[in-house]
Amino acid sequence: MASGRVLLELLVSLAAALVVCLQQCSGVPVDPRQQVVQLLEKGNHEDLAKYDLCLVCEGVVEVVKLYLERNASVDEVIPVVEPLCLVYMNKTNGYNGTFMCPGILKSYLPIVLYVVAEGALDPADVCYIIHLCNSSSHAQSSSPLLSLLETSWHKRQWTPTHSLPGALEGNSLREEPAVRGAGKRGGRLEKKGGDPIVFLQLSDIHLDQLFAEGSPSICNLYLCCRTWYSGTGPAGHYGDFNCDLPLATLEVVVEAIAQLDPQPDFIIYTGDNSPHDVWNETWTGEYQATEFLISYLAEKLPQRHIYPALGNHETFPESEYIGTLPQYQELTRKMADYWQKLVPLPQSALDTIADGAYYTTLIEDKLRVLSFNSDYGYTINFYTHLNGRNAYFTRQQEWIVGHTSKG
Ligand SMILES: *[C@@H]1O[C@H](CO)[C@@H](O)[C@H](O)[C@H]1NC(C)=O
Ligand SMILES: *[C@@H]1O[C@H](CO)[C@@H](O)[C@H](O)[C@H]1NC(C)=O
Ligand SMILES: *[C@@H]1O[C@H](CO)[C@@H](O)[C@H](O)[C@H]1NC(C)=O
Ligand SMILES: *[C@@H]1O[C@H](CO)[C@@H](O)[C@H](O)[C@H]1NC(C)=O
Ligand SMILES: *[C@@H]1O[C@H](CO)[C@@H](O)[C@H](O)[C@H]1NC(C)=O
Repeated sequence: MASGRVLLELLVSLAAALVVCLQQCSGVPVDPRQQVVQLLEKGNHEDLAKYDLCLVCEGVVEVVKLYLERNASVDEVIPVVEPLCLVYMNKTNGYNGTFMCPGILKSYLPIVLYVVAEGALDPADVCYIIHLCNSSSHAQSSSPLLSLLETSWHKRQWTPTHSLPGALEGNSLREEPAVRGAGKRGGRLEKKGGDPIVFLQLSDIHLDQLFAEGSPSICNLYLCCRTWYSGTGPAGHYGDFNCDLPLATLEVVVEAIAQLDPQPDFIIYTGDNSPHDVWNETWTGEYQATEFLISYLAEKLPQRHIYPALGNHETFPESEYIGTLPQYQELTRKMADYWQKLVPLPQSALDTIADGAYYTTLIEDKLRVLSFNSDYGYTINFYTHLNGRNAYFTRQQEWIVGHTSKG
């Protein structure tokens, strides 16, 4: 009996070897996407690095779809996506994914899955949005999951609560200039015809209050120069290319602005306040960065009128925004509070800022500023896809046509 069983086992293993050989020795190519899925299922992350990132992404999507069909939670999906993040970070930038991926996935995956669950996004399209694949696979094949989800999507019909044209219909275009102290040291912006207007733009300050002189400036992370990061350095007093702005540098810049002659008539300040440690962000951190920077600018440049706009880094997580969710409504309400420290704004402007972080006001009698919220429609704002399938996926160019020139 014993030798019989051995023989049987031998036959079975020979047969198994034959099947493997039929797949691999016969010259019939094994579908590489299936190989990727097998590696993902086995948890073999090292070997994944040998495959094209688009293929790995599409393989991950196949597995994620199975999880979604089983109503898996975000926490269950994170380990499925993590290998892709690790390979991506290492392959494309030499970054340490082990350090960065857990935080990034924890921040972004709930949003991506929310938009997928709303039926507005095929998971496969995510590989295209994050630039891992050259084309949207949705355009080539119709996914059963998407058609399933699209049914619920049509039922829900997402509608924004506010729209820019409606909000601009009020009195705001006729209001008196809020600016009484613009121009040179408290005077009205009094320009004679032909006088140039001098203005200054501040943007992407990305102040890092945790920047540390002497810390590693080469650290295999998206942002270096912090004491607890490992690597080589040392970071200089005024910063480093791999790091965000130290306060010391901001001080020098703001002092130089205060001493400009002639002084700018006004300042345009187009946002992005917080540092780039996208793997370790929180709403509290974002608000703290904005509050600090605005108080700083208001204190150091008290005579200047600073017209702000929302940056994509003012939200948590960075670049994601939608006016219909309460966390973003809180953001825009806070912005109305913060921004009025920088320039006197009429109530009509404060109302639209609180509503959606946009406004218009007069800089002087014949000069108007329109500040719009460019987080809407930003490529990596996944919420954008809730607004229907857009030209991005069909790879269409959009040509905006009209008759008369505006303004
Ligand atoms: C997933 O959830 C939906 C809706 O709550 C339910 O209809 C479906 O049966 C669930 N599927 C599984 C596999 O649990
Ligand atoms: C990138 O991957 C290689 C090979 O697995 C590894 O030796 C290296 O340490 C990784 N680099 C980082 C920054 O994680
Ligand atoms: C990457 O980060 C992890 C977690 O902090 C750390 O243990 C590891 O040494 C780092 N690897 C490299 C290559 O820097
Ligand atoms: C995507 O396009 C780039 C540049 O044209 C090319 O090098 C790469 O092989 C393409 N990737 C895939 C998966 O087709
Ligand atoms: C995240 O930031 C806090 C301080 O804000 C710090 O203590 C912690 O070590 C950071 N974590 C990582 C992974 O950088």
